[in-house]
Amino acid sequence: MEKMIGLPIFLLALIIEIYAFPPPPSLLPPGHVLVSLIKFRLTDLSRENDNAQDASQKGSNDASPTCPKTLSSITDSKNGNFYLFNDDNVWTLNNRTVISGPKKISQVFPNGPDYVNATVTSRDLTVLLEERTLYGYNQDEVTGEFKVAKGFPAKLHELVLFFPVAAFPLSNGSIILLSHFNAFATYNLFDNRPSLLNDKDVFFPGLPKDLASGIPENRVSDDFYMLFTKSQVYKYDNRLGEIVHAQPLSSYLVCK
Ligand SMILES: *[C@@H]1O[C@H](CO)[C@@H](O)[C@H](O)[C@H]1NC(C)=O
Ligand SMILES: *[C@@H]1O[C@H](CO)[C@@H](O)[C@H](O)[C@H]1NC(C)=O
Ligand SMILES: *[C@@H]1O[C@H](CO)[C@@H](O)[C@H](O)[C@H]1NC(C)=O
Repeated sequence: MEKMIGLPIFLLALIIEIYAFPPPPSLLPPGHVLVSLIKFRLTDLSRENDNAQDASQKGSNDASPTCPKTLSSITDSKNGNFYLFNDDNVWTLNNRTVISGPKKISQVFPNGPDYVNATVTSRDLTVLLEERTLYGYNQDEVTGEFKVAKGFPAKLHELVLFFPVAAFPLSNGSIILLSHFNAFATYNLFDNRPSLLNDKDVFFPGLPKDLASGIPENRVSDDFYMLFTKSQVYKYDNRLGEIVHAQPLSSYLVCK
């Protein structure tokens, strides 16, 4: 009953507030943002009714995760979640929806690096690269927790002369490490050495400039990858060596 009265009063107050005290045009959010702000307030309000005291302490520090605006790297994982990295933070995504974060990298990846330059998941192994150090993890599929994998951390083999800035897995169990320039290495994480060093423009033409990460659409195939740069998401056809779709990270991510 309380809710039924409270809601129209709140809406009325909101409308009066917006019309009586319009924010300067430069501060006025676009229509859809305004609508989602109102929706957010409405869901927040119903919780406030349930527990007014709790809600009054919550303020803007709501349980919903903050949406990342850019990324430095992103990888999938054994249980199907994605982990998005930016600076020293990591967010967890499930089917494009941000379900937690930001957390410090080492809160999710024990004894993990302070930041990452590249990340990749190949079979059961998730690897974070900080400069030339590889931090390897196995994920518990049920709890989602990461444990340091046997043999890690490890140093990148000295035959790889560059500092990797991006990575993606191949379905045969090797990974591709990319340099900032033209070189790439096909790398085997299990014997920790490269099997091929070559020119990425020859083997993987049409990769986006400043690629950060690649995640296969289907783990058993190298045909299609989702490629991520700092703020864009692409679909790459590896058979054609072409980008076939592009969208901003902000529209790819679903944030509640
Ligand atoms: C992922 O989300 C889309 C819509 O955003 C939905 O159609 C699809 O079924 C979801 N997939 C899974 C595995 O939940
Ligand atoms: C690795 O990441 C750090 C932090 O973002 C950055 O300062 C450094 O230049 C990166 N290394 C390379 C090789 O890009
Ligand atoms: C996977 O394929 C790549 C390129 O086709 C090759 O260089 C690499 O050695 C292969 N890895 C394994 C583990 O067979």
